[in-house]
Amino acid sequence: MPTITHLTALEILDSRGRPTLSATCTLDDDAVASASIPSGASTGRAEARELRDGDKSRYGGLGCLKAAANIEGPIASALLNKSFNSQQDLDHELIHLDNTPDKSHLGANSVLATSLSFARASAVSQKVPLYTHFANLINHKPQKLPRLTINLFSGGLHAGGQIPIQDILIIPASATTIADSLAICHAVYQSAVQLLQRKYQSRPLVADEGGLAPNFPSSTTMIEDAVESIERAGFRPGQDVSLAIDLASTHFHQSGRYQLDNLSLDSGGLIEVIRKWTRQFPIVSVEDGLSEDDWTNWPRLRQAIHTRALTLGDDLLCTNPIRIKQAIKSVAADALLLKVNQIGTLTEAAEALQLARAANWKITISARSGETEDNWLADLSVGWSADAIKVGSITRSERLSKYNRLLQIERETHWPLEKWPLS
Ligand code: PGA
Ligand code: ZN
Repeated sequence: MPTITHLTALEILDSRGRPTLSATCTLDDDAVASASIPSGASTGRAEARELRDGDKSRYGGLGCLKAAANIEGPIASALLNKSFNSQQDLDHELIHLDNTPDKSHLGANSVLATSLSFARASAVSQKVPLYTHFANLINHKPQKLPRLTINLFSGGLHAGGQIPIQDILIIPASATTIADSLAICHAVYQSAVQLLQRKYQSRPLVADEGGLAPNFPSSTTMIEDAVESIERAGFRPGQDVSLAIDLASTHFHQSGRYQLDNLSLDSGGLIEVIRKWTRQFPIVSVEDGLSEDDWTNWPRLRQAIHTRALTLGDDLLCTNPIRIKQAIKSVAADALLLKVNQIGTLTEAAEALQLARAANWKITISARSGETEDNWLADLSVGWSADAIKVGSITRSERLSKYNRLLQIERETHWPLEKWPLS
């Protein structure tokens, strides 16, 4: 029964140069571990609330000193020298201490940094790999590694809004290992660099998640360019390499209309555009095709594309068990994008995972656009047997720390990749 003897917090910077938190937890057997947490940009309205300092003279108000003080103050006072039987016990104590539906009292950032640092310290104490510890939390025995979904092109809030849709991702579908997947991705990425230079005279500058982000003339061209990059790299689109898209459409939804390129579409109009894309291009997953509040039209979107592509909910669901239940009931989606910081504790994220699994949904475990060099997400995706992982591009070290950790886990376990296509 571990007892926390020390709990400290540090304001650190994320990959966008904005403050975030790292917490360090020490247990009574001297096991000690830290965890750093990420932060989104295209956030959902129903996400748990990060606590930011609000002092405009420092980091434009984004400082995390109050959140760090909450960990070392009220959270430490409540947790130190108490025994916790399980992660669940600890997380319930945190939820109780915060006592708001959106973690806005202590801050979702303070709560999650504590929850994760305790998990990692517990893994150290038990002398098991972190992925095994995550699996044990949900009584699960993983045997597979997640399929990679890798950012190739970026738009939306991650790239200064040069194009409305946020991500075009490639999925090395024929790869049989993580190592192969990364090598295929590198070839497609290099082919894209050359294509974009030739077509748009653009230098290979990258957006928040490391994706390439030239001034594409339209969203459809962005998808066509991805297909051409796959072909020019010598792969067969749809067989060797498939596509996933994240429209993040909440962020181009204004007054009931979707402003896509030069079109102003109602929900039915956007569903038709997406339906055509899934027929024209090898798209196997569509994330946030509609906005987070367009509940009545999500089932229509799913109906229109489900024979070809997953209907993946990010902003719609916010890893929130209440919203996931609603989506299961109305058949609004068939896949969950799981981001632990959208809900704030590992225990609630596990509940979200289990609800989605019980409904036979597919799961993608995802990083945020503002990340740190911490790699716990790789262990989580393996321990919880995510069908896929979404971390960003193969450039930028906050992304690579997760891919490189997956390479280590692959060498350690020799587990095969999740089969593809998902069925
Ligand atoms: P975010 O974006 O971290 O900025 O929310 C990631 C995503 O939409 O998948
Ligand atoms: Zn998203």
